[in-house]
Amino acid sequence: MSNPKKNTVEEILSRLTVKEKVGQLIQISIKDPDLIEKVKSGTVGTVILAESPTAGNEVQDKVLLSELNAIQKIALESSPALPLVFARDVIHGHRTVFPIPIGQAATWNRDLVKKGGEVLAKEGRANGIHWTFTPMLDIARDPRWGRIAESYGEDPFLSAALGEACITGIEGQSLSDTTSMIACAKHYIGYGAAEGGRDYNTTEIGENTLRNIYLPPFKSAVKAGVGSVMASFNEISGSPVTGNQDLIRRLLKEELCFEGVVLSDWEAVAELLFHGVCESMEEAANLALNAGIDIEMVSTCYEKHLEKLVHSGSVKLEILEDSVRRVLEMKLKLGLLENPYTAENLGVDVYLNEHHKKIALDSATESMVLLENKNNLLPLEIELQKILLTGPMAHAREELFGTWTLDGKKSEVESLADFCKSLQASNITIGESVLHSDRLLKEVLDHEITLIALGEHPQRSGEMNSVSDLSLPAGQLDLLKKVKGIGKPVVVLLFSGRPLDLSEVRLYADAILWAWHPGTMGAQACIDLTFGIESPSGRLPVSFPRSVGHLPCYYNYKNTGRPHTRFPSNYIDSLSSALYPFGYGLSYSKVKYSPISLSKQEKKKGETLTASISLTNTGPVAVQEVVQLYIRDSKSSMTRPVKELKGFQKRFLSPNETVTVSFTIDDSLLSYYNHENKWVVESGSFEIWIAPDSVTGESVSLDFI
Ligand code: NOJ
Repeated sequence: MSNPKKNTVEEILSRLTVKEKVGQLIQISIKDPDLIEKVKSGTVGTVILAESPTAGNEVQDKVLLSELNAIQKIALESSPALPLVFARDVIHGHRTVFPIPIGQAATWNRDLVKKGGEVLAKEGRANGIHWTFTPMLDIARDPRWGRIAESYGEDPFLSAALGEACITGIEGQSLSDTTSMIACAKHYIGYGAAEGGRDYNTTEIGENTLRNIYLPPFKSAVKAGVGSVMASFNEISGSPVTGNQDLIRRLLKEELCFEGVVLSDWEAVAELLFHGVCESMEEAANLALNAGIDIEMVSTCYEKHLEKLVHSGSVKLEILEDSVRRVLEMKLKLGLLENPYTAENLGVDVYLNEHHKKIALDSATESMVLLENKNNLLPLEIELQKILLTGPMAHAREELFGTWTLDGKKSEVESLADFCKSLQASNITIGESVLHSDRLLKEVLDHEITLIALGEHPQRSGEMNSVSDLSLPAGQLDLLKKVKGIGKPVVVLLFSGRPLDLSEVRLYADAILWAWHPGTMGAQACIDLTFGIESPSGRLPVSFPRSVGHLPCYYNYKNTGRPHTRFPSNYIDSLSSALYPFGYGLSYSKVKYSPISLSKQEKKKGETLTASISLTNTGPVAVQEVVQLYIRDSKSSMTRPVKELKGFQKRFLSPNETVTVSFTIDDSLLSYYNHENKWVVESGSFEIWIAPDSVTGESVSLDFI
């Protein structure tokens, strides 16, 4: 008779030695020279399919499924015969590459972000990968920080909503399906607050800001059932997160009830020595495990010291076992005990199939934000005008992928030039890929309109790629000025991993279509929007500053005690508002917002109410409008932001169509963490806006009694 208790977490745990238990907490690189020996000795729990600490900016070997299956076989034939979990940074697509996460955030479309998660999980799992380190939920208020590209931007509510969508897409119905992967909410916590925007830098975050601004996306991720959380590299106010018991064990595991796996970032356990809070790797292992880091990524503090620490009693066996249980649970949920291998032919119908490409196209199309459109220059009439396509990004192919694209192939992405050629439109001239400015200006002169593709190379953003200057890369503004100097209309198509300083660019551009790094289908999306096959519906998930001197620049700032007096908190040499605010974006139509109506003017605890508006498309084409709900807590025991996003809906409107848009307001939308770290709603008045962006519209008041 079979044993019903076999292969339960407790049964497996009971047969592991301390050394084997420790082994489950170790993640090594696929390029570790001793990989096979370590797997044979049963002291590896998971393998990361990356060769270097900053894989996102480098060319990495593609995943070889047959190699993974062979390594798995060795693990299963060695004691304790437990399957390995293979992990890789499949961040915004695997073979079908989606826009970088900040681009996906600009869609403000939960459904598309979820579908993006589904596609990356299907393609990744078919390639033998069980675990991906996405979504990145760091609040990013500083565009100098290169990793803003991997974030959902500056807002806790938007990041939480899209993070949840991405996680549900990746993890699917069941993790044991060959279409799902384990997601990872990272980097817990505060990593985006790096001083000066310099990656890995010190952060100084008060507890109230930590809980009200940085925590919400992680709280939602835990609620959504995310399988893993990665601790961040940074220190917060003197304590490195990787060794911080209050943040990991108490807040994340106990208070938020996170039951999945917490892993360190790459070598971050050993880096506790550089932070100066430990003197030895043994001490680092002790600190990190007690803090709640279940798996150590790549460095070898656990491997070398944990067994000893448990035997000496410095680390309690129950603490070790709690971590091991979490890892075993992950392996069971993935179904790896029954199905440890990945079938070699799974990818054939999956990679880059037409369905996946269509979703990537929709995502790219909805990610692009129309920032300027003087005299309604766009959309262009494809047949009527003599158009020149030029600029340093016109022939870019894999540069359109963006940071953290390990598996997209150059041969599988079209450039703007390729795509325009495929249209066989005789009135579009494709400028040469090598730009000789004298020839270029002659071509501009010979055409009615110039499309100039500008922007950042992907290696200017992403990990370790912070900048001190947010201007366009060298020479590009100059080129734009010269092109505009000819005196004809110029459309700027701008590809970037971060907001840039567009104060001057906008003076020389008749239209600016902000395209981020849009992925496999980016070129088509851009051209479809330029020629009006689609109407732009992207909205900014992050404020665009007027200059580096404006940083930090975010919409949900505090009021100060002197907002309107003769002592306001302003600059005397420039406006202090954002150049393009959070939530902003144009379309090819005009949408009219009615005043807000509330179903009641007063609300008691536990009651809900509805805030509604009617929305009319008064323009000539169908649009998707991103309707945004903002709330201000006008009276509270602690200071609160001038407004906060608390809801959004993306609504389709045909020309002349009117729809009613309603939001339900309950206690949770009015609550915050107070000075005692309690999640409370306090009596007093609230202001409510339903608006097209974070700076427009009239508010109405609501009394909470
Ligand atoms: C370091 C990065 O911070 C993290 O985001 C990534 O998942 C790991 N390296 C693994 O590549």
